[in-house]
Amino acid sequence: MPNNKLEKIVSLCKRRGFIFPGSEIYGGIGGFYDFGPLGAELKFNIKQAWWRDVVQMRDDVVGLNAAIIMNPKAWEASGHVSGFADMLVECSKCHIRYKADDMPDKCPECGNKLDNAKARSFNIMFKTFVGPAEDTASVAYLRPETAGGIFVNFKNVIDTMRVKVPFGIAQIGKTFRNEINPKDFIFRTREFEQMELEYFVEPDDSGRAFDEWVGLREKWYEQLGLKNIRKHEQSKEERAHYSKATIDIEYEFPFGWKEIEGIANRGDFDLKSHSEYSGQDLSYTDKESGEKYLPHVIEPSAGVDRIMLAFLCDAYTEEEDRVVLKLHPRLAPYKAAVFPLLKNKPELVSKAHEVYSLLAKNYSLGPIAWDDRGNIGKRYYSQDEIGTMHCITIDYQTLEDGTVTVRDRDTMKQERVLAKELTNILKEKVG
Ligand code: GAP
Repeated sequence: MPNNKLEKIVSLCKRRGFIFPGSEIYGGIGGFYDFGPLGAELKFNIKQAWWRDVVQMRDDVVGLNAAIIMNPKAWEASGHVSGFADMLVECSKCHIRYKADDMPDKCPECGNKLDNAKARSFNIMFKTFVGPAEDTASVAYLRPETAGGIFVNFKNVIDTMRVKVPFGIAQIGKTFRNEINPKDFIFRTREFEQMELEYFVEPDDSGRAFDEWVGLREKWYEQLGLKNIRKHEQSKEERAHYSKATIDIEYEFPFGWKEIEGIANRGDFDLKSHSEYSGQDLSYTDKESGEKYLPHVIEPSAGVDRIMLAFLCDAYTEEEDRVVLKLHPRLAPYKAAVFPLLKNKPELVSKAHEVYSLLAKNYSLGPIAWDDRGNIGKRYYSQDEIGTMHCITIDYQTLEDGTVTVRDRDTMKQERVLAKELTNILKEKVG
């Protein structure tokens, strides 16, 4: 892949309203990004595809939406207060700080040699205070993963829902890590979103469930058209101390193969530790056999922003005279755009508005774009660049026989169809 591919994607994202640097008018803030109108749609579609496939389509998974700020004891139990740290190296000359396992030999700012031996531990959880007193008793943390909220609600869910092991609790939400070196656009940021599933199983069933989830998660990416993925099994040295096995799904970004999702067999570490720290019995009783035990956990954990970057990199295509974002129909921000052939002909504009309203009313098609600027060729170019699946033009023939042209983003082929049948035709194409 060309090295400048990432730069082109960053530029497209800024130019076309996908992703802006955070707080840009104030000079930005490192590691934070704002998602513009099209980025918000793309992110929403990724989360919706995950929620639909991992939660709503399964009778053994329920969803959750827990608070970002939790009782700090929860983060002591999970090991984050004592151990969620990166090793930090500071340049002795210009005092710029680097993540030790990811640093160059020499400081890129001043050329000074960096010394790994002087690395010190730095906890990457963001701290805040709850209430008006800023003292140690009121310290709290912005959650560094969404998983914590799931474990502390395990008892609430088994007490209120008709769940039976094996079952899962899933959550999508904001996560915060005070990364030493945020980098590679939205690949490593300080505020991001995670989509996590904690799947609870009988201890003896964890190997089978782990393999099943690895397969399901790999298939999920493939079904959404993501190419260039592979699996990487973490060695004992790489994985967390409680993990019995971890497989990462990696994507080949323009800056190399990198993890987009990790699937871990966490054993009973989490429920055991939260039982000890909270003093609550978090064991599960099988209603049929009466057996009481702490379930083991399989955790597929993915980052929305990272996956979004992978989909953008994969979809970005330069053809002879156009740039196209070949996003999967489920992910494309716009499933269709509606154009009146000429904007100064009221009869065409009014008919186009009619078609637009017909499509926009249909929830499953998502937002529909409207474009009446420039010539049709320029409008096609502009919609291709943001991944719009279909461009629909209302012309003089529409006024005579009620047909419109539908142009396909990938093949660029056009067909004439009846406007009143458009909703069904598009629904079929979009899936
Ligand atoms: N509960 C397990 C957990 O949080 P993780 O490997 O630290 O595991 C899971 O994170 C996923 O979250 C990663 O695969 C990645 O997609 C995403 N992620 C982690 N740190 C990130 C960061 N600083 N910026 C963007 N995404 C991040």
